Amino acid sequence: MPVEFLGIAATSDGSETTARSTEAFDRDYTLRLGRAHEEHGWDRVLFAYGSGSPDPAPGAAFLATKLDRLQILLAHRPNVSSPTFAAKTFATLDQISQGRLTVHFITGGNDHEQQREGDFLTKDQRYDRTREYIRIVKQAWTSREPFDHEGEYYRFNDFVADVFPVQQPRPGVSFGGSSEAAYAAGGAEADIYCLWGEPLAETAAQIERVKQAAAAAGRQETPRIQVAFRPIIAPTEELAWEKAHRTVERINARKAGGELVRRRGSGGSGAGAPENTGSQRLVAIAEAGERYDRALWTPTAAATGGAGNSNALVGTPETVAQALLDYYDLGVDILSARGYHLLNDAIDFGRYVIPIVREEVAKRDAEREAERARKADAAERDRQQLIAVQA
Ligand SMILES: Cc1cc2nc3c(=O)[nH]c(=O)nc-3n(C[C@H](O)[C@H](O)[C@H](O)COP(=O)(O)O)c2cc1C
Repeated sequence: MPVEFLGIAATSDGSETTARSTEAFDRDYTLRLGRAHEEHGWDRVLFAYGSGSPDPAPGAAFLATKLDRLQILLAHRPNVSSPTFAAKTFATLDQISQGRLTVHFITGGNDHEQQREGDFLTKDQRYDRTREYIRIVKQAWTSREPFDHEGEYYRFNDFVADVFPVQQPRPGVSFGGSSEAAYAAGGAEADIYCLWGEPLAETAAQIERVKQAAAAAGRQETPRIQVAFRPIIAPTEELAWEKAHRTVERINARKAGGELVRRRGSGGSGAGAPENTGSQRLVAIAEAGERYDRALWTPTAAATGGAGNSNALVGTPETVAQALLDYYDLGVDILSARGYHLLNDAIDFGRYVIPIVREEVAKRDAEREAERARKADAAERDRQQLIAVQA
């Protein structure tokens, strides 16, 4: 299975290490960053969601009309709209982009951030609601007949959309979270299950939990797995480690200056212990050690309180590519990466890391295919021999 690469669609140039130099929605920067991804081998970019951030849906529509190939992963929080309204927005976007949309359903990992837009449910209730919401969106995308719905969180009668996605039967559903409620909801409904980058052993354990949850929901197939990292690459190992230490110093300096408090709400960000399990896991892993496996480095996660995708992979492009291949070998299908200088790092990673990973994945896939063919031949020979003996 070919591997896919997910980058970030930002509407301004700020990151944990750098204050933004533009407006929150900078049209030119949004396009420049999207174009850098499209021209450097990425498959898709994530438009994230934050309570006060520019709305990602029109941002995604803008990029889709300007670029030809880049696919969009649109983050969406169920608390901000009705599911039928959202389904039409997504279908329209899939039409605008000619079938390049996947929707990332966000349950919300932080109560305070959810309450900013009027959502006062508990996290477990939110996961229940997300599950009901995704089911309705799927039905609205596919049903040509009017339907009623009476559930725990939504009730309506006689809805039928007049706009349908280009992708048939429907666009992909992406989902993230590391709590038991997340595995249950995502295992049941997701096509893509997203994890934040953890060491190989912990990632393998999470993949297993997702598989179990999918089986418990009666599914034959398992969601595709996506894992996210913050690569820090340089031409030599030494330069990469210097860059990594500079990165953490910069994050800590900005934190000390009070510049990093109000972030997207998916982690701690220095404002007390994180509420969501995914961030708690990142903090615990960082407390247990700085370095794991081939290139995983946790001080970037520790410095941000496990705020979302925050574990780094440090080294030369070759080292980082090999580290990513370790995850591919675990069963990861989609590799998500974002640097600390969004634009330059998207270009460098696309130029120097993606080609190595793609080439190695193609080799591994060809070897697996040859092995499958060898086994099938051997089984066929055994069968023929058995027939000959019986005759
Ligand atoms: C890849 C990925 C991207 C995410 N993007 C966002 C986002 O843009 N905005 C947000 O508020 N939460 C985002 N989240 C947070 C999750 O959707 C979820 O609300 C949180 O992880 C739930 O916590 P749990 O680990 O306790 O289940 C993202 C999670 C993942 C794994």
